[in-house]
Amino acid sequence: MARYKIGLGVTGGIAAYKAVEVMRQLQKAGCEVRVAMTRHATEFVRPLTFRALTDSHVIVDDYDPENPDPIAHINFSQGIDLLLIVPATANIIAKFASGVADDFLTSTYLASMAPVLIAPAMNTTMWEQPATQRNIAQLRSDGVKFVEPVVGELACKTVGTGKLEDVENIVRQALDLLSARGTTSTDLAGERFLITVGGTREAIDPVRFISNHSSGKMGFAMAEAAAARGADVTVVAGVTSVEPPNSVKVIRAVSAADMHKAVMDELPNATVFVGAAAVADYAPANAADAKIKKDGRDTLTLELKKTPDILGEVASKRHGRLIVVGFAAETNDVVEFARSKLEKKKLDIVVANDVSKPGAGFNADTNIVSILTASDTEDFPVMPKRVVADRVCDAIKRFRGELK
Ligand code: CTP
Repeated sequence: MARYKIGLGVTGGIAAYKAVEVMRQLQKAGCEVRVAMTRHATEFVRPLTFRALTDSHVIVDDYDPENPDPIAHINFSQGIDLLLIVPATANIIAKFASGVADDFLTSTYLASMAPVLIAPAMNTTMWEQPATQRNIAQLRSDGVKFVEPVVGELACKTVGTGKLEDVENIVRQALDLLSARGTTSTDLAGERFLITVGGTREAIDPVRFISNHSSGKMGFAMAEAAAARGADVTVVAGVTSVEPPNSVKVIRAVSAADMHKAVMDELPNATVFVGAAAVADYAPANAADAKIKKDGRDTLTLELKKTPDILGEVASKRHGRLIVVGFAAETNDVVEFARSKLEKKKLDIVVANDVSKPGAGFNADTNIVSILTASDTEDFPVMPKRVVADRVCDAIKRFRGELK
């Protein structure tokens, strides 16, 4: 099931071809995209390109006898979660700002209650014209959001502001807007999630420890997504630098040993376990009771011992209906390592990410993941962690369907 329905409006600028890539990336992120084009846009990209990739009629003209829906601007506008315009010309911005409705896309804008995100692209002089800036200010005060154009070489061979923002950034802002609005579906009602979050701290002595850079953002995003979809959520949180969401139960457990105990205590109650924590793999074998002094020591050797593998133990002791989800942070051969983790630890789902890529990993607000099951690998573009969390919840939901 598509999580979000997006109406993509394409208008007549040279950057219209980039709308195809925006559409592909939104589809990969789990969105259903329907396309509306202005007549001028069809001079740059053929409607057939979008039709072939969306499998649905691309509307240019309401009154076209080929249009299967006689009141398309109403039906189209009311079935979408977001109206996204890529690229937006000065002309469409002017029409939206003044409420002109002389074609399908402008009528759709007026008939829609969905949030609107506009990615303009035009020549610098047109962008800087007081008339254009006035129309943009008007639309902003009407609640419309913009993906600002950037400085670059334009089609007219001049360099200045007016270049369409990168496709990845347009997609990210669209998904951000959608995830901020939340979702009303309660398709995970009845599930009880137990999620480990954040990093652990392993004591060397009473004042020092070994830890890692985990922020807890991905794990808390999982908790928020599952709770928003109706699940009952318990989080076992180590060290985190962000606040947990409301509406979830939080148990604090700072070391791997504490986290292990808390998970084992809570597990009998869970129907889904998600290991999103960056649990230290090793901890000092003998933490000192008193602060270690440096007098007389030029070197200090710490002996480390393996911590309990929480995820592995949960998977090996699983009861009947428990779904077990692990995370795999890798820097190379990501999918291969993740698949071997899935098989070795007997996991149901693994969320793999390449922490060396910009836009992924610790502390970032976005992530780039592949979601693996025994029979499938889905690759996703860079997405806000909250949207990644929804895609993981989709995979859990599907897995539950297959278990029945
Ligand atoms: N995990 C856990 N308990 C541990 C270590 C890891 O529950 N003591 C969980 C993490 O929450 C994550 C997954 O295991 O879901 C990561 O798997 P792991 O094999 O520990 O990853 P790496 O440490 O990256 O493994 P490798 O040594 O193969 O690089």
